[in-house]
Amino acid sequence: MYKNIVILTGAGISAESGIATFRDSGGLWSNYKVEDVATPEGFARNPGLVHSFYNHRRGELAKVFPNAAHTALADLEKRRGGGVTVVTQNVDNLHERAGTVNLIHMHGELTKMRCGKCRDVIVTEEEFSTESVCLKCGGVGSMRPHIVWFGETPMKMDEIGNLLEKCNLFISIGTSGAVYPAAGLVRIAKASGAHTVELNLERSQGASLFAEKIYGKATEVVPEYTGKL
Ligand code: OAD
Ligand code: ZN
Repeated sequence: MYKNIVILTGAGISAESGIATFRDSGGLWSNYKVEDVATPEGFARNPGLVHSFYNHRRGELAKVFPNAAHTALADLEKRRGGGVTVVTQNVDNLHERAGTVNLIHMHGELTKMRCGKCRDVIVTEEEFSTESVCLKCGGVGSMRPHIVWFGETPMKMDEIGNLLEKCNLFISIGTSGAVYPAAGLVRIAKASGAHTVELNLERSQGASLFAEKIYGKATEVVPEYTGKL
């Protein structure tokens, strides 16, 4: 019945895999200052701290696994044979490891680094430091996480806009709705006439924007909801 489905995911979908969310109690933003580790200014001030923050998070990926919610989305895509795209705010790699192919990482990826001088992007599982050298241009200390920091523009916004224009069903999973432009995508989907659904542990900041809301753990509510599509 729904021809084109766009699914926005956030940290809540990976919580049951053991990756800390940002704004829940004990979340990343209660242990680190956003301005220190997630802004271009923070990186300019103390690149060593920023590298160690992302080295640690990159290292965590080897210890975690996709959960039933990631798998349910990958199964939905396979079953439908097209017309399903996951737009994730997450920088982990659990969607792709679960088998999702149509995937947009709007806030970047932990497994990528880019050179601030020549812009080359590499895929890596290594640790980085202020001594790391760009293999393309030889720049020393020029590599930075391929992550969208506060004050920077999310990736692939044109592509996301085009998908939302033809979307009939928009599902938001595990996101607090605190960070724009991601939190505003539901409005674009609504304007295109899409049915909108929030699947989250609790009401998000944008809950009133959704036509349908189901609250519970992602590993329970996501397989249940997508199983019916
Ligand atoms: P948040 O930490 O802001 O929100 C996580 C949401 O997931 C909350 O609403 C929780 O209630 C919900 N949640 C927690 N556990 C859950 C579970 N087991 N099942 C379902 N829901 C659960 O994370 P995001 O909304 O993803 O940006 O944060 C958005 C952006 O803010 C991130 O992409 C990051 C951060 O700063 C950048 O790094 C650019
Ligand atoms: Zn370079």
